[in-house]
Amino acid sequence: MAGAHVGQHRAARRRARSCWLPGRGPHSRPSDTVRAVKRLFVTGLGGYLGAELGRQAPAAGWEVAGIAGSAQLDVRDGAAVLAAVADARPDVVVHTAYRMNDASVNVEGTRAVAAATAAAGARLVHLSSDLVFPGTGTRALTEDDEPRPVTPYGASKLEAERVCPPEALLVRTSLIYGGPEPGPQERFALDAADGVSDMAFFTDELRCPIAVADLAAAVLELAALGSDPAHPPPAGPLHVAGADALTRYEFAQLICARHGRDPAALRGEPGGPDRPKHIVLDSSRARALLRVRLRGAREVLAA
Ligand SMILES: NC(=O)c1ccc[n+]([C@@H]2O[C@H](COP(=O)([O-])OP(=O)(O)OC[C@H]3O[C@@H](n4cnc5c(N)ncnc54)[C@H](OP(=O)(O)O)[C@@H]3O)[C@@H](O)[C@H]2O)c1
Repeated sequence: MAGAHVGQHRAARRRARSCWLPGRGPHSRPSDTVRAVKRLFVTGLGGYLGAELGRQAPAAGWEVAGIAGSAQLDVRDGAAVLAAVADARPDVVVHTAYRMNDASVNVEGTRAVAAATAAAGARLVHLSSDLVFPGTGTRALTEDDEPRPVTPYGASKLEAERVCPPEALLVRTSLIYGGPEPGPQERFALDAADGVSDMAFFTDELRCPIAVADLAAAVLELAALGSDPAHPPPAGPLHVAGADALTRYEFAQLICARHGRDPAALRGEPGGPDRPKHIVLDSSRARALLRVRLRGAREVLAA
């Protein structure tokens, strides 16, 4: 089978390039293994998650290169992406670049990044979304649940997952918050509390927000798993979200309280019938692989 042949070939190459730090041999836990030289290539390096990856990666032993944003290079430009990735000679490519309202960036950009990653013989960690699910159920969603997006953005992220090769790791995550500067989730809540916007927050849409520091640490750990030839790296979908399921309204209230605003200033209302409702990711598979704790928003925002 062609896939198996490619996998064996890659494994052989990884073995040849691997070296182990003292006391961290191939029989230790996968997350305890580290390669001496690791090169990471990040798309969306100037974005919210990308910037946090850039901040944390050097301390985790990675050399980092990447594409900051579309002004530097459009991820849909296959030839340019191929050249940039080849030039960086990465071990792992983390693909975070996306646009909420542009399916071509999400799908064609991912196709170009996946092709460049394969050509460089690197491993792909692709960032995906909890919105690949419709949110019509009532229990937490595992990687075995069938994705069926109900928003154009969710559809584009599912299509992006499907243009990735089977050996790619597809990190499905939820609302990201908690960086050094307020991100979009925080801005929505703070602007509403400050009267800058008149946004209402859904009282019936459950998500599992994740602190950007936890997500970046998790992604870096997952990226490093590929360096241990004794343990094949995880592939396919992996849910990596925060421990607490909160409505958008509850989440916005926590953000306001954390930033010294009055949570009572926020307006809550039900989402429309077409909105996903119950998008609670079960991240137990990721938790079993990771050392970093995927904290809930109640804990993070109360700190
Ligand atoms: N944010 C969330 O709450 C959330 C929730 C679930 C999943 N995710 C997933 O997590 C990932 C990272 O999200 P994020 O919040 O870090 O995103 P972000 O802050 O919006 O950053 C996106 C990055 O992509 C770059 N980009 C956009 N279009 C591009 C193009 N055509 N060519 C090159 N670069 C381009 C942007 O740069 P420029 O703007 O400078 O072009 C920016 O650096 C995404 O894949 C997203 O789907 C996010």
